[in-house]
Amino acid sequence: MSKEKLKERLIIALDVPELAKAEELVNKLLPFVGMFKIGLELYSAVGPAAVKLVKELGGRVFADLKLHDIPNTVAGAVRSLVRHGVDMLNVHAGGGREMLLRAREAAEKEAALQGRKPPLLIAVTVLTSLDSTSLREDVGIERPLEEQVVHWALLAQKCGLDGVVASPQEVETIRRACGPDFIIVTPGVRPTGTLLDDQRRVLTPAEALRRGATYLVVGRPVLSAPDPVAVVANILGEMGSI
Ligand code: C5P
Repeated sequence: MSKEKLKERLIIALDVPELAKAEELVNKLLPFVGMFKIGLELYSAVGPAAVKLVKELGGRVFADLKLHDIPNTVAGAVRSLVRHGVDMLNVHAGGGREMLLRAREAAEKEAALQGRKPPLLIAVTVLTSLDSTSLREDVGIERPLEEQVVHWALLAQKCGLDGVVASPQEVETIRRACGPDFIIVTPGVRPTGTLLDDQRRVLTPAEALRRGATYLVVGRPVLSAPDPVAVVANILGEMGSI
């Protein structure tokens, strides 16, 4: 795979509480990274200014806000995010068919109004922080965890979504069930020899790609490094070794 193609598939999580820190990271990493992920921490701190910053610096944005509400409210939030110019965004598959369909429709219509390509619309299935016991006992879902993940991935696909976020462990099963074109965004990626932090089920960049991941999301190994560019270069090297 070419260097440009590898870069496209790497997403760095801007899990920082302030804009200045995000700006520093984007400036350093922009030449090596396909997309920057703005999650709840940064978005709750500074809102759409975070998206504006990355776009103005020339980066692409994944708005990881995991929308989950009634269909009308989610459709409104999707329209707003499209107006901010995000390139990828996500909603919870557990919001149900109607919510997913309305999110898809809102993304298409608003993008057409803005004269731009619709963002990639990605579903969150079972949060990786839940295990099979908490899924059954706390959430009340009796199906085995992996079956529930596939159930929601297939629902998202039927509703016209472009893909799912999935733990490294689930990638192969989803790939089998949803086919080669379905996008799988995979966090929990750790370059060989780095700390696991609170991630339990991790894969190396090469192994994640080998199992069928489309995009890799990496946060702390890069954010906490004295030389983030060196870590990113190392990740791209590992991605290129498959
Ligand atoms: O720091 P680390 O590399 O673990 O960051 C992974 C990023 O992916 C974080 O922003 C985290 O919120 C996100 N994420 C995750 N697991 C999921 C969904 C998102 O780790 N299932």
